[in-house]
Amino acid sequence: MKTVEIFEGPRAKTYDESIRLWCPDYDAIQGLLPSLLGYHLGINNDKNVLVVGSGTGAEIVNLLQFSDTWKITGVDPSPEMIVQAETKLRSSDNYELVTGLVTDLPLEQKWDAALSILVFHFLPDDGSKLHLLKNIAQRLKKGAPLLLVDIFGEGQSFEYNLSLLHAFLLSKRFEPEMVEGGIGHIRKSLFPISQERLTELLKEAGFGEPHMFTQSLIFGGWVATQLS
Ligand SMILES: C[S@@+](CC[C@H](N)C(=O)[O-])C[C@H]1O[C@@H](n2cnc3c(N)ncnc32)[C@H](O)[C@@H]1O
Repeated sequence: MKTVEIFEGPRAKTYDESIRLWCPDYDAIQGLLPSLLGYHLGINNDKNVLVVGSGTGAEIVNLLQFSDTWKITGVDPSPEMIVQAETKLRSSDNYELVTGLVTDLPLEQKWDAALSILVFHFLPDDGSKLHLLKNIAQRLKKGAPLLLVDIFGEGQSFEYNLSLLHAFLLSKRFEPEMVEGGIGHIRKSLFPISQERLTELLKEAGFGEPHMFTQSLIFGGWVATQLS
């Protein structure tokens, strides 16, 4: 099992820039998340939100701007990503950052919602994805929504969307070698799964049928509810 993908060095330092290159709708997708969560939780209610793989803090910044009453816990195993998030969040209250994994969070504490944005495609479907989904489910209240955004798909459909991303990047006049290298990395080193397989894993972990709320090229977003 592979339980963690560490972001460090140049990969951590350049993350905020490079994610907007490789995920062209990154800001649009991030911008949807607070209102989607508000639909489920209500904006002015005291709610605890868990952000799994909080990275450099984009989700937390947006959630704190959206609601004065939500309390956010961000968890991420990469210290260099946590430091960047801390710098952005310095002037805010209502959040805590944990350097570690979901398994480091107490089982007694139950959150009202969770987000996992661009994390699961780093984990193989050999029990690793399921392990993390189960650990999130165990820390959520019954009925809590999980918002998941990841690279997804398989076969020809995935290859077509990857080709579109490739063409988009070349059209922006990025260095062809850099584009080829990144597309090759996505193809060889990441672990996208089909929506059908994601549904199976979510159900096995204790969530209901996921609802897809967005798709942009190889990126998809779903909301699923913790059932027990
Ligand atoms: C692509 S970044 C996404 C960061 C942020 N969610 C965003 O959308 O900008 C992936 C993050 O997941 C973290 N990560 C890797 N494996 C993890 C795991 N098993 N549990 C939680 N976070 C993990 C990495 O350290 C990294 O910060």
